[in-house]
Amino acid sequence: MKKRVFSGTRATGRLHLGNYLGAVKGYLELQNNPDYEAIYMVMDLHAITTPYDKAKLFENTRNVVMDYLACGLDPEKSIITAQSLVPEHTFLAHILSSEITVARMQHLPTFKEKVKQHPDHVTMALLNYPVLMASDILLYKASLVPVGIDQEPHLEVAREIARKINEKYGTDFPEPKRFATQGEYVPSLTGEGKMSKSVEGSYIGLTDSLDEIKKKLSGAPTDSGKGEAIPEKGGVANLFKLVELFEGSEKRKEYEEKYLGGGVRYGELKTELAEAIFKEIEPIQKQRKIYENDPSLVERVIKEGAEKAGIIAGKTIEEIKDKIGLIK
Ligand code: TYM
Repeated sequence: MKKRVFSGTRATGRLHLGNYLGAVKGYLELQNNPDYEAIYMVMDLHAITTPYDKAKLFENTRNVVMDYLACGLDPEKSIITAQSLVPEHTFLAHILSSEITVARMQHLPTFKEKVKQHPDHVTMALLNYPVLMASDILLYKASLVPVGIDQEPHLEVAREIARKINEKYGTDFPEPKRFATQGEYVPSLTGEGKMSKSVEGSYIGLTDSLDEIKKKLSGAPTDSGKGEAIPEKGGVANLFKLVELFEGSEKRKEYEEKYLGGGVRYGELKTELAEAIFKEIEPIQKQRKIYENDPSLVERVIKEGAEKAGIIAGKTIEEIKDKIGLIK
């Protein structure tokens, strides 16, 4: 039997460069590896764990699928669908939630961050977010999960639950490992933290035009352009990291030498960087038009993906029901 890969993106809007480099590039690599069967979903149930716009959720879900397809995910090679179309995810999540404590969930950095962002919306669904994520992965017995480094604490929870449940009930869930890409951490344009959809001004979208990219980069904080040492964090450090990711490490070295010598001209750096980013995403934007113009194709991908995923999910649920003593 082939080993399985599972990953997904929340349905919070179109993808940004962080999602692309940290996750989707990994999805693509594993989709093309014949040793694996890959399942990639749009996580719409995870999207409703923080405040969301009901009128936009459905469109957001479709938009992520279109981004996936435009990036090169291929329904002939991968199972592509939306999480809520496979109800087994929530069924298994309930079972798994009895294997982990409330305290463990409350201590997760991702939970604390969301509590800070939405202090009036600290719900049970938010607390249970990592359990639902563990369920997404274990439902398919996936051993490899292409995600950015920010998701590592969640994978640790999934491993812990897999271990416990295997010991207790004799199941055979693999302990899932993260599949890392070169862009496992794409920094924010604001100079603080990672590129994130929930922080305005922090991200460049995969569908942004060259002008939009230039405009966003022009707002990224800089300094005088020279110094005694290369900054390790902040606006300049983040710009250098983006240069490395889109123009290569040689180019980064050039800028670093300038920084320690005659000085960096950020206007030039930002223009070159904007062009390099656009060059990488322009083919994706062209490809996306095909799917935008063919909504029935997108619908078919989602529907067929749900059917295929449902077959695998159903088997796991039958097995776990038996193991834990639920009526069949
Ligand atoms: P989400 O929607 O926040 O992000 C989707 C993917 O993009 C990666 N990512 C980044 N990678 C590098 N640098 C960044 N700045 C950056 N920002 C986002 C994330 O690491 C992620 O891989 N919890 C998940 C969704 C999920 C899931 C799952 C993933 C639900 N169930 C099961 C894998 C398996 C999330 O919030 O992704």
